[in-house]
Amino acid sequence: MMIFMLILPFLNQFLLVALNFRYFVQKLDKPGCFSFPTGVFSIQGLAGAYGINYGRLADNIPSPDEVVRLLRQLKIRNIRIFDSDHTVLQAFSRTGLNLVIGLNNGLVKDINSSADHAMNWVKDNVQSFLPNTRIRGIAIGNEILGGSDSDLYGALVGAMKNVHDALRKLKLHEQIQITTAHSQAVFSNSYPPSSCRFRDDIIYYMKPVLEFFQKIGSPFCLNAYPFLSYMDDPENIDINYALFEPNNGTYDPITDLHYDNMLDAQIDAAYAALESAGYNKMEVIITETGWASKGDSNEVAATVRNARTYNYNLRKRLAKRKGTPMRPKSVLKAYIFALFNEYQKPGPTSERNFGLFQADGTIAYNIGFQGIGSSAYSLKDFQACYHLSLYAITLASSAAVLLLLTRLL
Ligand SMILES: *[C@@H]1O[C@H](CO)[C@@H](O)[C@H](O)[C@H]1NC(C)=O
Ligand SMILES: *[C@@H]1O[C@H](CO)[C@@H](O)[C@H](O)[C@H]1NC(C)=O
Repeated sequence: MMIFMLILPFLNQFLLVALNFRYFVQKLDKPGCFSFPTGVFSIQGLAGAYGINYGRLADNIPSPDEVVRLLRQLKIRNIRIFDSDHTVLQAFSRTGLNLVIGLNNGLVKDINSSADHAMNWVKDNVQSFLPNTRIRGIAIGNEILGGSDSDLYGALVGAMKNVHDALRKLKLHEQIQITTAHSQAVFSNSYPPSSCRFRDDIIYYMKPVLEFFQKIGSPFCLNAYPFLSYMDDPENIDINYALFEPNNGTYDPITDLHYDNMLDAQIDAAYAALESAGYNKMEVIITETGWASKGDSNEVAATVRNARTYNYNLRKRLAKRKGTPMRPKSVLKAYIFALFNEYQKPGPTSERNFGLFQADGTIAYNIGFQGIGSSAYSLKDFQACYHLSLYAITLASSAAVLLLLTRLL
């Protein structure tokens, strides 16, 4: 038995390497990347995924022009950025990529108090880049309600209205959507999903936002992290439930609905809170979700293996183009967090390690990239191949060492 357990991970890795070798042989006739081990995971690139967050809190990440090339290779068409950086807006010009830009939390108070400032902001950061840069949405602030700066709570809806008024005056309001992304801190009591409500101290600020969104037809944008929920309660949550892996799931006795993954349950919790506040027609969109590949010693769930599993399964979940148990007809839309590891982000180590790509553009872990297979090879692609091959070897050997260690202890 013990011997078998020792060998099992080897078998797995051997299979992986063997499969890769098969693809290596098949791909020999193609130019460029040698032995790019996409075989095990390749389905459709990221085409099934809805979108991705492109955060830039790092000065070692590829230039916006290189990022545009990468996004095209990955076949991702919807991108969310957190500001309105002009070099980025310029790089996205004439690319056909859809962009949601952000108005920083730091500007929200000023934009709330001055319609003129809102108009100037829209002219400088939106109108002057249209139509070549396809700006499709503006997120006013990020995670303001429930966040640490409660001074901003009361400024949010006024800022949205001022920006929306400016868009209307410029006749841009029909092509550009106003939103704001909420964290799960706006909710209380999210289990079972149907019992979820907005927090008592938040509902006062949330109601006018929802009222306004209902009027202008905007969705409810949620940043949802099964990674964080799992880490809050690892004793009682099956990690497979958080990772979309086979598990027993959970059951909501009030609605008689069954959940086989945590993200679906978190989305339905948001639907339940909206319904209870009187907004049962509003759509929920996931503006951020992801899993960290590295963390501090108290963040043991942050591993390359878990991050890859989560993002790979998330992509499969999105490609099904299905709704959730509570809203089966409303196809789930989610933006993955994030494109790059961002070493300048504050907080625990996990915060800096959500990227699908390392800062230098090489792949942090592979969830199936078919896009990288054209003749447009660059040094970066080569590095990605090299890195991945090394990764497969390292993984195989480190799994063995780890197992030996745990056996010895
Ligand atoms: C938002 O703007 C309104 C109108 O100018 C003002 O009365 C209110 O105090 C502002 N709120 C905050 C939090 O700045
Ligand atoms: C899953 O359900 C089966 C049958 O009810 C049970 O025996 C098993 O312990 C459950 N597994 C977990 C991880 O809860």
